[in-house]
Amino acid sequence: MAVKFSLLLPLLLFFSVISAQTNEDPTTRTMEEFSGYPSEPHSCISDSLSLSVDKDSLQKQIDELSTFSDTPAPSVTRILYSDKDVIGRRYIKNIMGLSGLSIREDAVGNIFGRWEGSEAELPPVATGSHVDAIPYSGKYDGVVGVLGALEAINALKRSGFKPKRSLEVIMFTSEEPTRFGISCLGSRLMAGSEPLVRALKETVDGQNISFFDAARSAGYSKDQEDLSSVFMKKGSYSAFVELHIEQGPILEDEGVSIGIVTAIAAPASIKVDFEGNGGHAGAVLMPSRNDAGLAAAELALAVEKHVLDSGSVDTVGTVGILELHPGAINSIPSKSHLEIDTRDIDEKRRNTVIERIHQSAIAIAKNRRVKLSDFKIVNQDPPALSDKAVIKAMEFASQQLNLSHKLMISRAYHDSLFMARISPMGMIFIPCYKGYSHKPEEYSSIEDIANGVKVLAMTMAKLSLD
Ligand code: GLV
Ligand code: MN
Ligand code: MN
Repeated sequence: MAVKFSLLLPLLLFFSVISAQTNEDPTTRTMEEFSGYPSEPHSCISDSLSLSVDKDSLQKQIDELSTFSDTPAPSVTRILYSDKDVIGRRYIKNIMGLSGLSIREDAVGNIFGRWEGSEAELPPVATGSHVDAIPYSGKYDGVVGVLGALEAINALKRSGFKPKRSLEVIMFTSEEPTRFGISCLGSRLMAGSEPLVRALKETVDGQNISFFDAARSAGYSKDQEDLSSVFMKKGSYSAFVELHIEQGPILEDEGVSIGIVTAIAAPASIKVDFEGNGGHAGAVLMPSRNDAGLAAAELALAVEKHVLDSGSVDTVGTVGILELHPGAINSIPSKSHLEIDTRDIDEKRRNTVIERIHQSAIAIAKNRRVKLSDFKIVNQDPPALSDKAVIKAMEFASQQLNLSHKLMISRAYHDSLFMARISPMGMIFIPCYKGYSHKPEEYSSIEDIANGVKVLAMTMAKLSLD
């Protein structure tokens, strides 16, 4: 395939340069001027793609987008369908427009920007990520894979490249589960999840706002339209490639520029509710209590125990939400609510942990004479494997660009986990400072980001010609 590409690309670029010189689109030129992207001459293209990333502009966009936040800098909080999310969406659509892409949005607000290829009837190559941000997180998670993808398109355009298959940048709705407890909402739906279509009819947020009311307030799902309209058929894309910060320390520790993801670990999340009698913190003596808060505390420790008992460092579990009702210092908790996240690269082992957590919840409720009023597995997703041909294309791109690279797995989940259900998938990781993520200290240098953008651009170019 590498041989075919190296023969085809110079040829294609040669014709592209000719056509760019003779048939320059004045609309595109004007948009480039507005966007502030330097319009570079195509003359340096010889036997490989000459890609330049406009680092200043990309950093400016990352910084600007981070200001659309409900918490103060350096933290970023951008929750699905909030005002800040809506402004962020407008910002992304504007940049898509400036890049000359044709824009479409679906019923839940997945946003698609397409650069039409010379053979537009072929399934396109897609890329993209998310820009929603969990409470008090950083400005790079997801954002690098959306703004970086748009810069990859700009870099390809500046180089004079003309795609055969169309190239599409997707901004996915709600990769983060913050508002409705459902991760990868947009990509999960795109991949055709019927259970999610049913669940969303009943889903409300912490303020009791329904999914449909929230979506309507952001301009989507106006008539509670059938969400199966979001589904995409297998084969709609010839490949999907996501650029993302690693969210772990390996690349930085080892001084490697690019991570080529071979598989994404299997995530699951669980919601648990306990109910007791509550009562006065002074008057109700210890033998008479059935404390829902202590049941939750005991279950949190049981989660840790079951995860550690798996004997593998690849098994992880987190109780990220623990709420007590009524939440007064002098009142015994009458209700408690936990949300548990557990993951593993081994699906069977992860499922064993879930089963043990369930058994513990039942036993704790019995021992403490509280009611286990709900034990709900919200999602229990299988892992995903990257596609061999996409891995090869990413390796080829890294080699061509002289960038050190290594194969690795993703312990975080991504929209790619679901895109893998309908398309050959691959992911490009770049280093991030100390592996920090989901906190304000999250950081990737613009040099590392630019490397990722170039690998993405070249990978898409290659896949577009396949
Ligand atoms: C994604 O945000 C994850 O939690 O892995
Ligand atoms: Mn995240
Ligand atoms: Mn992410």
